[in-house]
Amino acid sequence: MEENQRVCVTGSGGYIASWLVKFLLSRGYTVHGTVRDPCDGKNEHLKKLDYAAENLKLFKADLFDYEALSSAFSGPRLQSKLNSSSLGLLKFIKGGINSFLSEQLYLVDVRDVADALLLVYENQEAKGRYICNSHSLDNNGLMEKLKKMYPNHNFPESSAEEKGKEEVKEDRLRLSSEKLQSLGWKFRSLEETIDDSVVSFEVAGGYIASWLVKFLLSRGYTVHGTVRDPCDEKNEHLKKLDNAAKNLKLFKADLFDYEALSSAVFGCYGVFHVACPVPFEGVPLTEEELIKPALTGTKNVLEACSEAKVKKVVVVSSAAAVVYNPKWPKDVAKDEDCWSDTQYLRSLEGYWRYYDLAKTLMEREALEWSKNSLADVVTVCPSITIGPRLQYKLNSSSMGLLKFITGGMKTLLNDQVYLVDVRADALLLVYENQEAKGRYICNSHSLQSNALMEKLKNMYPNRNFPESFTEWKGKEEVKEERLRLSSEKLQNLGWKFRSLEETIDDSMVSFEVAGDLPKP
Ligand SMILES: NC(=O)c1ccc[n+]([C@@H]2O[C@H](COP(=O)([O-])OP(=O)(O)OC[C@H]3O[C@@H](n4cnc5c(N)ncnc54)[C@H](OP(=O)(O)O)[C@@H]3O)[C@@H](O)[C@H]2O)c1
Repeated sequence: MEENQRVCVTGSGGYIASWLVKFLLSRGYTVHGTVRDPCDGKNEHLKKLDYAAENLKLFKADLFDYEALSSAFSGPRLQSKLNSSSLGLLKFIKGGINSFLSEQLYLVDVRDVADALLLVYENQEAKGRYICNSHSLDNNGLMEKLKKMYPNHNFPESSAEEKGKEEVKEDRLRLSSEKLQSLGWKFRSLEETIDDSVVSFEVAGGYIASWLVKFLLSRGYTVHGTVRDPCDEKNEHLKKLDNAAKNLKLFKADLFDYEALSSAVFGCYGVFHVACPVPFEGVPLTEEELIKPALTGTKNVLEACSEAKVKKVVVVSSAAAVVYNPKWPKDVAKDEDCWSDTQYLRSLEGYWRYYDLAKTLMEREALEWSKNSLADVVTVCPSITIGPRLQYKLNSSSMGLLKFITGGMKTLLNDQVYLVDVRADALLLVYENQEAKGRYICNSHSLQSNALMEKLKNMYPNRNFPESFTEWKGKEEVKEERLRLSSEKLQNLGWKFRSLEETIDDSMVSFEVAGDLPKP
């Protein structure tokens, strides 16, 4: 290795230094980075950078510690913690300040600073000191720009004029980076810098949430994901998603742990509350195991949102919170005005009634909370969700479909089924669309089990299917009640859904890849 290809970066876990380390590694440098504690989770992002495994060595060193420093010398925020200058911009956008001083600002993109540091390091002509500034404007100018870019955000209401001496104000107007530019330095537009700095947030890493995290990351969001154990291999798929190394931070949080939830929510503009216990085939959950976490979890997440002044909350409910209503007129499709009747649910049999009850109660709680909250709350009620999965562990609703096609059932109840694809477009749509209000039913296909079976048989004639159907034995009006479910409100917002064939086909590929489905 060339001697000049090995460099040391002090304080390498910080805001600017992290970008510098990233650029150095991508150009083939071997980097010795000093940090105060290489094992501290806040330095984890460095280890995930491209080429870090081969070319980055972290040294424990304090600036007061000459011995440690000397051993290291021998050879859009990347870090998870918010730094001081980013916090200033975030407070501007999140309504964290009521008024501001109208004064001169000088701004530069953190990536452009890292470029400048590399440029002066690599260019032999570089001598002396270099000013590194891209945009000079006053607070009012910045505010106008931000308002145009994000018309729906909360901004400070007024500006106060700077009270210092006029000549001091004048002195601060001009700052030239000409010397650096003549060395070849180029900088990003202010719009690009601002746009890449806005953050968002998500809760949990299961079947539906994994798709949501994937889509959020691909759209440039910074995502805080809560999982019960970030080191559990069942969450590895999240770390491998595109942009995850840079923009996904996993937090350890149980729904009962308010402190953990609130540190994950801190600094986020929006929250998707997805986590909830879901009974799994063969492992039914009790009333206590289903209702308590669903309700306490929702309360904790909403309180954390309130404390962190989150602006938008999307809560994942379920069609189960809609369909069980014996009083709904028989000839009218069920829409968002229809709520499952909790008394009625208690009178039914089977463990799913506790899940249905939990979803109904938690959705009601979320919408009640929104009446006294500054945050916009939108709830989404998906029907039975199927489609390809990103996580390796089979989830409850995919298991239902799998049993259909593996001969896992001898007979099948000819019941009404409501199906929707797992890919989380509806959740993103209601989050990003400012018109979205209240609750949304999210269902694409309503059909009877025997019709679904015919479709599957046509698509996969070599598979094993249940041999017979049992007809519905319950009350006829209960069967009738469950027939119609309308997603018109969501479609009016622009939601489009996949064909049932595409969803089933992609599920089959995913089952085969994961080894759940032996070849016929
Ligand atoms: N799949 C469907 O058919 C369907 C339909 C309508 C609505 N929904 C709703 O969609 C959401 C996601 O469901 P899914 O199908 O994606 O199921 P899933 O894969 O089982 O996801 C549920 C997630 O909730 C987490 N969770 C459960 N209890 C928790 C607790 N006490 N603390 C922290 N996290 C906890 C689970 O974490 P662990 O992995 O650590 O247990 C898991 O990540 C749920 O709210 C569900 O009610 C699902």
